[in-house]
Order: sequence, then C-alpha cells, then structure tokens
Amino acid sequence: MTVMDKFKLDGKVAYVTGAAQGIGEALATGLAEAGADVAIVDINQEKAEAAAKRIAEATGRKTKAYAVDVTDPENAGKLVDQVVADFGGLHAAFHNAGMAHNVPAEDLSVEDWHKMINLNMHAVFYGTQAAGRYMLENGGGSIVNTGSMSASIVNVPQPQIHYNTSKAGVVHMSKSFAVEWATRGVRVNTISPGYIATELLQSAELAPLREEWESVTPQRRLGQAEELAGIAVYLASDASTFATGSDFIVDGGYTAV
Ligand SMILES: NC(=O)c1ccc[n+]([C@@H]2O[C@H](COP(=O)([O-])OP(=O)(O)OC[C@H]3O[C@@H](n4cnc5c(N)ncnc54)[C@H](O)[C@@H]3O)[C@@H](O)[C@H]2O)c1
Repeated sequence: MTVMDKFKLDGKVAYVTGAAQGIGEALATGLAEAGADVAIVDINQEKAEAAAKRIAEATGRKTKAYAVDVTDPENAGKLVDQVVADFGGLHAAFHNAGMAHNVPAEDLSVEDWHKMINLNMHAVFYGTQAAGRYMLENGGGSIVNTGSMSASIVNVPQPQIHYNTSKAGVVHMSKSFAVEWATRGVRVNTISPGYIATELLQSAELAPLREEWESVTPQRRLGQAEELAGIAVYLASDASTFATGSDFIVDGGYTAV
C-alpha cells in the first residue's frame, strides 16, 4: 500500500462538531473530499443543514446534520449512538466547537470564565470520552480536538485568559487520553491553529486587530480554514498510525518566533 493509499478515507465515518461554518466546515469538507462520510454537528441547526448539503453536493459523500449543544454532557454519548446508527460506525471524531471572548483578567466574571471553560474544554472531555468508549470496543479510531496556538503562547494584545487556559487544557487533556489509550487502538491528537480568517475573528473587539496579527505572523497573513484540512485528513487516516498525543500547530510560523 502506498502512502497516498493510506491517506484515503473511503469507507470511514467521521463527525465534526462546530462544523456549520469556519474551521469545522473546512475540516469536514476535507474529510469528505478524502472519501469519508461525515456527520455535521452544530448547535445551529439551519447552518449545519446548509453545510451538510454543501459538502454532500461538492464531494458526493454521505453527510447528515445533527443539531447538538455539545456543552450538555448527556449529548455526547447520544451523538455517538446516533452517528453509528445512521452511518454504520465511527472511525474519526473531531471536537472543534469553540468560542472566543476578550476581557481583562481583573474584570472577567465568574460566569464568563465558566461559559468559556464549559464549551472550549469540558465539552471536549465529554466528546472524547464518549467517542473513545465506542472506539475502544469497536476496532479503534482517531480523535482530533481543536486546540489553538494559545495553548502554548499568550496572545497579544487581546486579553483572553479564559480562552488561553481552556485551550491549554484541551491540549494536555488530549495527551492524557492518548497515553491511557495508546495500546488500545484509539489515537488522540490536537490541531492547534494560529490566526485563521473565520467569523470567530470578525467580532467588534477582534476585527480591528487583524493588521497587527498579520504583522507578527511570519507569513504576514492570516490562514484560511481550508489550510487546516490536510492535517485533519492525515490524522483521521492510516497515514498517521504512529501519531498520538501530539499537538499539531499550524500557524504560519507564529509560535516559531
Ligand atoms: N479562527 C481562529 O483564528 C482560531 C484559532 C485557533 C483556534 N480556533 C478554534 O477553532 C475552533 C473553530 O473556530 P472557528 O474560527 O471556526 O469559529 P466559528 O465561530 O466560525 O465556528 C464555531 C462553530 O461552533 C458552533 N458552536 C458554538 N457553540 C456550540 C455548542 N454549544 N454546541 C455545538 N456547536 C457550537 C457555532 O455554531 C459555530 O458554527 C474553535 O474551537 C476555536 O477556538 C480558531
């Protein structure tokens, strides 16, 4: 089997959370382009259905939208069961739904701290545990969680202590799952993007910072969500069978300087 054969995802089933737009949609599109059938999971049902339709039309693969709030721990196992019932299995699970928010550390409310950690970190735990439970019993699989370069560095100038903390948690949590399951066929890795031009960065507080981010990124530009699809396909595929517990930073050189 050639390395290009190993990258093929024909016959595999994946789900991606936060896949109605942005990075999640780009990851899901890449997986479908490589041959996977893909469940599009998002809290926004209308947008999830539109994304599922776009991806199915563009790739010819089976897709289905699932309206799910990933912060409810009960939903994680139900989602796995539904995807397995609808698609006949689950080989790759991408936990990508997340949020951003800026506020100085001394002004951050307890509510906003919990809201961030709940979505960006706790929901990733619920999903990884549920997908892992299925994969451990059903021939293994690959779990990929969206971290951020903010897990390794503290961004400037925007104050986002709760975001940075949540992403550091995702990366170390994923390594911990990976080590526990390393001999049992379930791999767990993180994709940690640098600045990517999505709606997440379009808020009134973040949009004005774009030029500054470009100037401190060695490639002097923001990334496009599609530029993360390659690493997603690699991690979901048999090309990456020795990769587990790793954090794949894709950031135009930002964390190298
Ligand atoms: N854009 C960047 O520069 C960047 C950089 C590093 C990491 N990330 C991370 O990448 C991931 C995706 O970011 P994006 O830029 O595509 O953001 P985005 O805001 O464009 O998309 C996030 C998606 O998550 C969904 N979502 C939000 N809450 C949810 C919930 N409770 N349940 C289910 N779905 C929910 C939203 O509806 C949306 O479709 C996030 O985890 C983010 O932290 C983004």
